[in-house]
Amino acid sequence: MSILTTIEQGILTIEFDRLDKKNAITAAMYQAMADALRAAETDPAVRAILLRGKPEVFTAGNDLEDFMKRPPTGGEGAEPAPVFQFLQQISQAGKPLVAAVSGPAVGVGTTMLLHCDLVYASETARLSLPFAQLGLCPEAASSLLLPRLLGYQRAAEKLLLGEAFGAQEAQQIGLVARVLPVAELHEFAWQQARKLAALPASSLRETKRLMKGGDKAAVLARMAEEGESFRRMLQAPEAKEAFTAFFEKRKPDFSRFD
Ligand code: COA
Repeated sequence: MSILTTIEQGILTIEFDRLDKKNAITAAMYQAMADALRAAETDPAVRAILLRGKPEVFTAGNDLEDFMKRPPTGGEGAEPAPVFQFLQQISQAGKPLVAAVSGPAVGVGTTMLLHCDLVYASETARLSLPFAQLGLCPEAASSLLLPRLLGYQRAAEKLLLGEAFGAQEAQQIGLVARVLPVAELHEFAWQQARKLAALPASSLRETKRLMKGGDKAAVLARMAEEGESFRRMLQAPEAKEAFTAFFEKRKPDFSRFD
């Protein structure tokens, strides 16, 4: 399955477990995460959620091979593809979400952090949003939330150029709460989740609702708009060239596209 889930001491841990592919996320993995998040909402045994990868890598983002072979579906009337179910669940979660990020966090590996309440990164974390580099467009409402967080200019650098940035910068721009040595990250994040699990669930839910509540509809609307473009762009020759180039370990050539 490549996603490990455990519920222990009030904490649902969701862990990427596909190190040989840098924890790239397949449709099956998105489905497992969406199901776990959905079930957590009504499970009194879950008081906080911890998202983590491995010390070497958080996640390389969407599995490009899976995306090419089984492009996500959705839109009016259709059941949303697992990736969109996951994004809906994480963006609307009522329970507090802690993320522990170490190593590369590519694409959705970075955008999912915009929906987490406490994000901790190791000194080796490398965040990136290479959607344009892949012939795609942003997802997870990052086109809305990132400009708000960073201002248009700095968000444009991240979303248009897609250049990776480190943990210190992620902390400076407010995407990460704290930077820790790799060896301490996962234990620290676990302890923070434990603190949340010990607090009154109703207070956490209400605080989170008040801090994020007004955004929910706007976030869902933006995700739907992004999703429509994303699905269309995934079928376009630019994305095919970018994905093929990645697997052929060469630079993509976009010069023949307008
Ligand atoms: N989808 C599918 N396979 C992926 C992948 C992805 N997103 N990211 C990495 N892999 C695979 C590689 O194809 C390779 O497989 P192989 O051993 O069968 O050849 C393996 O994982 C190791 O990847 P590699 O690129 O050799 O590791 P690295 O340490 O040099 O670089 C990354 C790590 C994450 C920086 C790099 O793999 C990367 O940029 N991945 C693509 C990220 C991306 O574009 N994601 C989509 C965002 S929408």
